[in-house]
Formats: sequence, C-alpha cells, structure tokens
Amino acid sequence: MGLNLTKRHDLEDFREQAHQMVDWMADYLEGGVRDHPVLSRVKPGAVSGALPKSMPESPEELERVWQDFQDIILPGVTHWNHPGFMAYFSITASGPGVLGEMLSAALNVNGMLWRTCPAATELELVVLDWLRRGLNLPQEFFGFLCDTASISSLLALAAAREAAGLDVRERGLAGRDDLPPLRVYASDQAHSSIAKACLTLGFGLQGFRAIPHDKDYRMDVCALRAAINEDRKAGCRPLAVVATVGTTSTTSVDPVAEISALCADEGLWLHVDAAYAGSAALCPEYHWCLEGCENADSFVFNPHKWLFVPIDASALYTRHPDTFKRAFSLVPEYLTTPMAGQVVDLMDYGVQLGRRFRGLKVWWVLRTFGLSGLQAHLRRHIALAQEFATWVDDVEWLERTAPAPFSVVCFRALPSGETDSEAIDSFNMKLMEQVNASGEIFLSHTRLDSGISLRVAIGNLGTEEQDLDLCKKLIMEGMACLSNL
Ligand SMILES: Cc1ncc(COP(=O)(O)O)c(C=O)c1O
Repeated sequence: MGLNLTKRHDLEDFREQAHQMVDWMADYLEGGVRDHPVLSRVKPGAVSGALPKSMPESPEELERVWQDFQDIILPGVTHWNHPGFMAYFSITASGPGVLGEMLSAALNVNGMLWRTCPAATELELVVLDWLRRGLNLPQEFFGFLCDTASISSLLALAAAREAAGLDVRERGLAGRDDLPPLRVYASDQAHSSIAKACLTLGFGLQGFRAIPHDKDYRMDVCALRAAINEDRKAGCRPLAVVATVGTTSTTSVDPVAEISALCADEGLWLHVDAAYAGSAALCPEYHWCLEGCENADSFVFNPHKWLFVPIDASALYTRHPDTFKRAFSLVPEYLTTPMAGQVVDLMDYGVQLGRRFRGLKVWWVLRTFGLSGLQAHLRRHIALAQEFATWVDDVEWLERTAPAPFSVVCFRALPSGETDSEAIDSFNMKLMEQVNASGEIFLSHTRLDSGISLRVAIGNLGTEEQDLDLCKKLIMEGMACLSNL
C-alpha cells in the first residue's frame, strides 16, 4: 500500500513515526546501544546485498522503511555512540546535540548568505565566539564552522597560499615557471589531512615536509628550523607550518610557542590542528596545551570530537578573515545582496556555497551542558584514561608506549620471551582483534617508534569505570588465550 500523498496525511505519518523514532533514539542513547555489538559484524556486501537494486517504483509506508532500518541497516552500523567504543577518537552524539540536528533538518535552511538565514550566520558566529572565549583564544580570532578538520585545514592552507602573495587566485599554479616549489611543514605525527591538503592545493606530496618528532612524539623544532633553512637554500619557498595539539596516534602536543616564534622569524603562516585535544582547554588546568596558539594565523578544533556535538562540526578560527575572503570569495550576480559589506556572508570564507545550520546543534549542546558540565565530562574522561594508564604501568607484560596527556592511552603487550619485533607486532594485532571480537569493546592501533601500539581512547559520554574494567578483563583474557596457543 502506497503512502497517501495528501499533505495532511503525510504529516500525520511523520508525527507518529517521529514520536516512535524519538523514543527509540532516547532508549538507544540511554543505554540501548549496549545491546548491539560495538563493531559491526556484517560481512562486506551484506548491507548492499540485502537492498533492492533500484529505488521503489511506488511510495512505501514509513513503517516498512523503519523495519528495514532495524533489520538491514542497524546490523551494519559500527556504534560510535557505544560506551565501549574506544577506537580512534571516541565521540558522542549527545541527546541535546541530536535535538539540534533534528531541528536543523526540519528547518532545512541554507545559510550561504546572511540573508538566506540571518539566524544561521549569527548563531554560528556567536557560538564560535563562546568557544573561543572558553578556550582562552584571542579576541581577534574570527571563527566559523566547517564539516571536518580536514576541510578546515585545507581552507587554512589555501589562505596561507593566498597570504604568500603568489597570485595563485588569478594565475593558478600550473605552468608557472616563476614559482619555486612550495613547502608546508608538519611533524611526522601530524594527521594525514595535512598532506592531503598539500596534494589538493597543488603543492604536491613533495610540498609536504614531515619533521621528525622527539622522544615524546612532539615536533622537533631544531629539525624544523634546519628543514626550512635547507629548503630555502635549495630554492624552495616555505609557506606554512602546521603544529598539532593532540596528535592522532599519541595525543602529543607540539611546542607551539617555540614553533610560533620560528614562524614569526621566517614569515610563515602558522596553522594549529587541535582537532581532538583543543576541547580539553575548556578546563583552565589544560590551558597549557594551547600555549602559543594565540599567535597562530589559523586554528582548528572539532566540537564533534570531544564536545558531544554529533558529527559533523569543526571550528575554524583565523586572525585573517580577509585573507580567507581573498582566497575564496567569488560572487555571481544572483548571489549579490544589498547588505554586502555590512554583514558576514559565510559562503565567502570557503569553497562550499550551501551551508547547513550547524550552529544550532553546537548551541544546544553548549547551553544544556554549560561550561561546567562540559568540563566535568572532560575531566571524568581524562581521569578514566589516567587510571587505565596506571593499570597498564602496573601489569608486568604490558608496556606504555607514549605519554598520555589527555584521554588516550597507547600501550602494547610483551609476550613472555618474545624479542622479535615483527612477532610482537603481530601478537598485538591479534590481541586487539580478540578484544574487538567481543562486540563489547572496540580498540584501534597505530605504529609508534617501538612498533605496533594499541590505543584506548575515552570520549563517549556513557563510558564508565565498568567499561574500562571490561576492557582490562578482555585484554587479560586475550593475553591468556594467545599465550596458550
Ligand atoms: C589531529 C587530527 N587532525 C585532523 C583529523 C581529521 O579529522 P576530520 O575527520 O574532522 O577531518 C583527525 C582525525 O582524527 C585528527 O586526529
């Protein structure tokens, strides 16, 4: 039976289904998520294979779509909202964040111009300013929202390219024999999005220079200075340095203050990628991690990583909004408005035209948690991670492989009598797969100087001591099982 397409009936269905779905969402967020394996167990092709090859010819009942969501889609979901999700950087779509997201979908505005939704632009600027104050960043930082840190860093490096006065906006890069090779520097621990930005912006992967790290996985500033000098001597043009606050593998914090001084001496743009750890600076005792960031030309952190805002929301700040506009603003006749110049049109600061109402979910979260609520959860996560780190330190056959300044712990198992590094790596990969097969805890891995390391990343609102206890138990059981093989 098809859907009745008269407006009233359609909306009655919507109301009924929405109530049912909100009930489901509340149960899910309240703990129902624990009934699902955190890491999806479907085989490749299982979801697509269960779906029809073409779209339905006739309208289908919402009820049927809901049923298929339960039967086909849910088994193929890896539950990032599961308290046992400790892989990568764990995140939370909090209830208030979901409400903001729902409203944003219902309003369905496009905030490309101020006048196409004044509230979207103004709320976005206000919440970004609230966050700026919370992080103790300078007043002159102008902030706006992007989808992801990858895009924020891409835009920042495009602005750095514009600031270098190479006339790339008009003339491009291709076929320019007047330009030397361009260089961007970041530590070898920086996120791959920085190298990706370089290849997207025409610097090429050769334009990305990875700087070695020190024993604590922080960028080695002497090596950075030497690399810049070497490149200048070789006729290259250094453009920008990207410092990371909270690297992806170990959450190490580059010495931003020193790097910023070097950037000032060398006339280089400084971009700071604080995608994960920036949120910690909402707690005054973590202001240290943003030391030096006040001198950055651009700075990104992701409220969708550790501030309980549903993915996606990345906060990009710059002290040079006009440079971003020079890099990106291109206004065809149909987008001109009488208010141009008097208002902020957010389409001018990046590549995309259409902009959804992202500020709404951030606002919902900031208001309903309050600064003190956010701080309490950040502190709780850090405390849980520190307790886990202490446990690792106390277990004879476990080794901590990096400092743990925030809510991520890197470690590895050392099977007794094993000295071959490949065998130790392979053992740790097996141990991780064994833990992950439980469906209750999901860990990820990385490669550090010592070899493969496992990571426990705490960031979900629902994660509690009992989840860490379970994680420890699974590691112990995995170790016992693999050692007896
Ligand atoms: C330090 C850092 N920067 C950037 C990113 C990329 O984030 P996004 O998925 O928002 O592009 C990550 C991802 O974890 C990250 O750890």
